[in-house]
Amino acid sequence: MLSVVTYGLVLALPLLFLFLKHSLSPSRQSRPLISQPEEKKSLKTIMQPPRDDLDPPKDDPFTLEHLKQFDGSDLSKPIYVSIKGIVFDVTRKSDVYGPGKSYNIFAGKDGSKGLGKSSLNLEDAVPDYSDLPENEKKVLDDWFSFFQKRYNIVGRVTDMPASVSTLSNL
Ligand code: HEM
Repeated sequence: MLSVVTYGLVLALPLLFLFLKHSLSPSRQSRPLISQPEEKKSLKTIMQPPRDDLDPPKDDPFTLEHLKQFDGSDLSKPIYVSIKGIVFDVTRKSDVYGPGKSYNIFAGKDGSKGLGKSSLNLEDAVPDYSDLPENEKKVLDDWFSFFQKRYNIVGRVTDMPASVSTLSNL
């Protein structure tokens, strides 16, 4: 009888140990399916990467009226997006800035306010971003550096509203 109990314990203890070890390992603990670093990585890969082949910034003057020609509706012309008065050539991404595409509302104009507000409403795509709260001004600055690392600067807007001035010292 004693030998049966001893035999049972000898068999059961290693099995109990293996069970506990497996159920407490990190892969078995409850956590989100996508861990934080992977999540960040996948968000990053959605956006195009920064480029290392950009031209030196140009300083050509554009009025807001002149900028309208570059909204992608004339296929023979480039597509321009201005942020805080700095004009970027986004022609190579006509798949998002071209006519009828998701971000066409920012094409051929300075839509700084809409970028800061993360808004795709036409009435927000205006150059005067002066009344944005600080957090949205920060979002706008983040978009500015996004564009600065990816698109050539072709000039600056000469008639931005007085409440906001075109950036200098790029
Ligand atoms: C459901 C909401 C949204 C989704 C799913 C979405 C998705 C995306 C994706 C997938 C890209 C990368 C596109 C590409 O590189 O081809 C992108 C880029 C971008 N998104 Fe959105 N977006 C959303 C909302 C917005 C809003 C509200 C704004 C307004 C500011 C915005 C502004 C932009 C801009 C400016 C780019 C950069 C395009 C570029 O030059 O590469 N998005 N978005």
